Amino acid sequence: MSTTGGAPVLGDRVPVLVAAAGEEWEAPALHALGEAGVVVLKRCVDLTDLLASAASGTVGVVVVSGELPGLDADAVLQLLRADVRCLAVGGDAEALGRLGVVHVHPVDDPAGLPGAVRRAVHQDLVVDPDPEPASRLEVRADRGRTIVVHGPAGAPGRTLLATGLAAEHARRGAPTVLVDADPHGGAVAQHLGVLDEVSGLLAAARLVNAGGLDARAFARCRREVAPGLDVLTGLPRPDRWVEARPGVLDAVLDRATEVGDVVVDTGFSLEDDSELGRGLVRNQLTLDAVAAADHVVAVGSAEPVGLARLARTLVDLRDLAPGPVTVVVNRMRDSLGWSRRDVVGMVEGYVRPAGVVFVPDDRVAADRALVAGRSVVEVGGSPLATAVAELHDLVLAGAEVRRSSGGRGRWRCRRP
Ligand SMILES: Nc1ncnc2c1ncn2[C@@H]1O[C@H](COP(=O)(O)OP(=O)(O)OP(=O)(O)O)[C@@H](O)[C@H]1O
Ligand SMILES: [Mg+2]
Repeated sequence: MSTTGGAPVLGDRVPVLVAAAGEEWEAPALHALGEAGVVVLKRCVDLTDLLASAASGTVGVVVVSGELPGLDADAVLQLLRADVRCLAVGGDAEALGRLGVVHVHPVDDPAGLPGAVRRAVHQDLVVDPDPEPASRLEVRADRGRTIVVHGPAGAPGRTLLATGLAAEHARRGAPTVLVDADPHGGAVAQHLGVLDEVSGLLAAARLVNAGGLDARAFARCRREVAPGLDVLTGLPRPDRWVEARPGVLDAVLDRATEVGDVVVDTGFSLEDDSELGRGLVRNQLTLDAVAAADHVVAVGSAEPVGLARLARTLVDLRDLAPGPVTVVVNRMRDSLGWSRRDVVGMVEGYVRPAGVVFVPDDRVAADRALVAGRSVVEVGGSPLATAVAELHDLVLAGAEVRRSSGGRGRWRCRRP
């Protein structure tokens, strides 16, 4: 993924391509652009000509007819991958916005077009330069379930368990999408050895912010990491969280549940930190994930501080999670001096969990997975992999589902 604070400019001259499909606005528009120092490098005869010319990297903006034959989400994404913003003249603004067109200009305002081009040039973009490999998951008749892995501060093992759970589900033949929605910086890509710097989440966020995310464009945002397992990689840097606005995760989950069951890795905080101002909440991704969850996996580490933090998380989840909560006590070891019964008793003081799973402290398996860039279930048998399979049986295998009667039309697990 490359980001850019602006497209190519030649001094104060802005190079563009135009594909006007022979429409009447072209002549006055070319005149106005020329007068204003916008250099039309080429008048393209059709979309194919436009895409080929844009790939050369010399322009940052194309001006197209909103009715240009063949202009679809794929074409716009292909342009964005070459850092080229698409500005349309005329056409259905809402539909074009959904494709990722950055601006739709009225046909009867040629004088305003140079200004619109210059604004588009400086529009910050997130682009995905690598069109391959495309996802092989297809839209299905039934919606998948959404399992959200959450846990408090202290790196209790959210990402390890989310990646393990998703990999186990895919290994058992279920199409699965793993979404990295940690607003404090994504780690799923690193855990799974996805080395390109593509942020699937930011690519999807850009499409959502531009007006919509269709199924084909969403497929391009994901990466297949194993048969039946797609990953939507997370934020490349913690400071990019602002780009994942409210509504982005809901749109992502709506699309992701069309193609399979979804496992979401989240951040450590459920705090509504709206005092950040401008309507922004850093933990929005985590809050939205938990609110959309069919089942939450709450992970805490087994030592005293970890369990105290887990208790606070369970209290928050009582209000925020609409479905069942399964608790994972991670890195459980005898040296801590308490029994499983002690821990279950503590957990049940806060919630009625769907289940409590103890995951052993298994440094060897965890390190082997990290070094290999694979999930713990893919690197061979281990106590850790066995525990992940047990967790899978509780939250994903054969869970009874029914269509939600709630507004968003997702599938929800029946409450225990
Ligand atoms: N059961 C376990 N046994 C041994 N090591 C583990 C176990 N669970 C997690 N780890 C290790 O602990 C570290 C933190 O795990 P992970 O990255 O999954 O935590 P996290 O909750 O996602 O943290 P972050 O706040 O960084 O997102 C990793 O090095 C991981 O390999
Ligand atoms: Mg993590």
